[in-house]
Amino acid sequence: MSQSFPLFAPLQFADRLRNVETSAIRELFKLLGKPGIISFAGGFPDSAMFDVDGIREAVNAALTHEPGAALQYGATEGYNPLREQLASFMASKGVRNLAPEGLIVTTGSQQGLDLLGKTLINPGDKVIVEGPTFLATIQCFRLYGAELISAPIDGDGVNTDTLEQLIAEHQPKFVYLIPTFGNPSGALLSLERRKRVLALAVKYNTLIVEDDPYGDLYFGDAPPPSMLALSDSVPGSRDLLVHCGSLSKVLSPGLRVGWMIAPPVLLANATMCKQFSDAHTSTFAQATAAQYLQSGRMPGTLDKVRRVYAERAQAMGDGLRQHLGDAVEFVQPQGGLFVWARLTGAGGKLSNGNDLAKRAIEKGVAFVPGAPFYCANPDMATLRLSFATADVAKIAEGIERLGAAL
Ligand SMILES: Cc1ncc(COP(=O)(O)O)c(C=O)c1O
Repeated sequence: MSQSFPLFAPLQFADRLRNVETSAIRELFKLLGKPGIISFAGGFPDSAMFDVDGIREAVNAALTHEPGAALQYGATEGYNPLREQLASFMASKGVRNLAPEGLIVTTGSQQGLDLLGKTLINPGDKVIVEGPTFLATIQCFRLYGAELISAPIDGDGVNTDTLEQLIAEHQPKFVYLIPTFGNPSGALLSLERRKRVLALAVKYNTLIVEDDPYGDLYFGDAPPPSMLALSDSVPGSRDLLVHCGSLSKVLSPGLRVGWMIAPPVLLANATMCKQFSDAHTSTFAQATAAQYLQSGRMPGTLDKVRRVYAERAQAMGDGLRQHLGDAVEFVQPQGGLFVWARLTGAGGKLSNGNDLAKRAIEKGVAFVPGAPFYCANPDMATLRLSFATADVAKIAEGIERLGAAL
């Protein structure tokens, strides 16, 4: 006798999916296809800035010198020549005593965050994040069942007095910060506060995660050293610090090359989880990145992207001051890809970011309202404007349109 199966068995998804939803930002992106829209909505670098010649040479060099390694399965921890290059890249940024074995290569820094979720978060664990913070981090940690606590920020990054109170009250599994030109805030954590955060890590025996994809994108003077570089000056803090880096914003996000530096036992557990996840980051991409870093082109590439983004950030700031005046307040970014602005409602103008986003699309300009970047108590008056992908003339035009939408 033949057995019959229902044609459409209902799919039973994991309970953890109830903790997350597709982002409001993705919904907005559907509107971006409209012809003539100037978009400040993206969170990515300008593809016109990619060093295509340099990457082509790196691909050729990888295939010429190490074709077997570049096309074969590789070690989960990462391709050793790349780990060596990344260790010296970090050394050039003031990180002492980092052996190549002290880091693992991840598939973008996004995978580093996922591995932290996998290795550290039990359902119900508390994790402190900045309010606002990177949306994918909120979603990723929630997927593992984290209860997120929001620590307020200002132009100097997270408020360390409040952070101390929150750590003392909640005893979080860890604290996640983007200290240098944060996404979305663009904020730069001051040197004094960096040291205070490291001291808090030691005082409360709390793990700190420093996510740093934007630190190399500074416009004038270099920002204060990363917390990883500073950890030498705060005894005990290095053992309580995780640092995630990425080539995405400075070289190419398509390479999907990031890295994670962490205490050895945490790196070992993250490596184990990575084995079950993607086995290793693409060896082809890693060999390409290694050749690129070895070629010595990186400093020139960094100079170029810093110069171009600095001009665009300036154009956006000038435009906002000219066309939105006191209807908006913001700190002129000193690096990164974003202006984080707040509608003041002055002169009876709009004071809600969602409302302005809708009107702005009608006027032909797009940005992301700030509310989804908060894990709690969203500030509805906020907006994130990326100056990365439009040139100076388009930025001026787009901000003028934004002023007309207010
Ligand atoms: C703060 C932050 N962390 C991590 C990432 C992920 O970058 P990637 O996985 O491309 O390295 C991003 C990308 O937008 C980001 O803004």
